[in-house]
Amino acid sequence: MAKKFNAAVTGVGMFAPEKILDNEYFETIVDTSHEWIISRTGIKERRLMENGASSDMGAKAVKDLLKTSGTNPEDIDLIICATVTPDMFFPATACLIAHKAGLKNAWGYDLSAACSGFLFALETGAKFIESGSYKKVIVVGTDKMSSIVDYTDRNTCILFGDAASAVLLEPTEDLNSGLIDSKLYVDGKGSEVLNMKAGGSALPASHETIDKKLHYIYQDGKAVFKVAVKGMADVAVEILERNNLTGDDVAWLVPHQANLRIIDATAQRMGIPSERVTINIQKYGNTTAATIPLCLTEYYRDGKIKKGDKLVLAAFGGGFTWGASYLVWSLD
Ligand code: COA
Repeated sequence: MAKKFNAAVTGVGMFAPEKILDNEYFETIVDTSHEWIISRTGIKERRLMENGASSDMGAKAVKDLLKTSGTNPEDIDLIICATVTPDMFFPATACLIAHKAGLKNAWGYDLSAACSGFLFALETGAKFIESGSYKKVIVVGTDKMSSIVDYTDRNTCILFGDAASAVLLEPTEDLNSGLIDSKLYVDGKGSEVLNMKAGGSALPASHETIDKKLHYIYQDGKAVFKVAVKGMADVAVEILERNNLTGDDVAWLVPHQANLRIIDATAQRMGIPSERVTINIQKYGNTTAATIPLCLTEYYRDGKIKKGDKLVLAAFGGGFTWGASYLVWSLD
């Protein structure tokens, strides 16, 4: 059946905690230097959520979205929350955010796809809109990465930060606008090099798992880097080709913010100059499910992303999960 609607982004919102952890702070807690961090990752500082959990950050981002878009919280039909740092295994963080943000008529659930979480949730949310049965869907990415980071491990602690960001999806009859296409992938073999080993059904929490520090992020950075550079660039080029686009057609590449070198390599493969790549990794580090909507929100509010702009969103993360989306911006 021919599609009647696309899902348009009609609102954005974000929350970044005030507390800043800069590279100089990390020089005092692990054997590292500002020069190493900035040259290997592009990160200068990241945020720390001192009081509150992922749902608190998510609810603040959703409230910002509702306020700035003039949306009544009771009109939201569905909320999909992308996170790998849920407040608890259950209830879902989406339930907690809906409660805290007053989404009285919404149902919702969590979606776990690590750094690709926002793209996976965006594609899912768009399908509800395209069905014609849903009028207002919120997709929120929220991650309190500080809750699973080992601050004695210099390989990982410098990379991650806390933040949340959200978009509102509504139907548009203009099929040249909104979310046009997505290509998403998973490969469970990648679980060996990027994971949090304990706390789930495979290895429930015990004194031993705590002693062995198995409740923190484990990453073989070099192994992940190699696959991420190729995976993110390949899928971004695939989405261009599937939609008969070249790099010249793209107003902004909106990449997941894990490492500036991965972002640069992706932009180069797509033929997009760095002036047309959204970058805020220097301020926030890797906030997992929040990076892409944070970029969308900041660049839109700065007047850089404009109505009609053709955007390519791209991500790579734990799972492995990866993907790219072609989105035409709908907000004035
Ligand atoms: N400060 C100083 N030295 C550090 C360090 C730090 N914070 N972290 C690691 N090092 C050291 C390593 O111990 C290693 O030393 P060795 O050669 O004596 O063993 C050396 O720096 C080089 O490590 P390497 O892993 O090769 O660095 P890198 O250039 O690959 O950069 C990452 C490390 C983590 C920044 C990079 O691998 C990366 O970004 N990986 C992918 C992240 C990603 O995309 N994840 C998916 C989404 S979460």
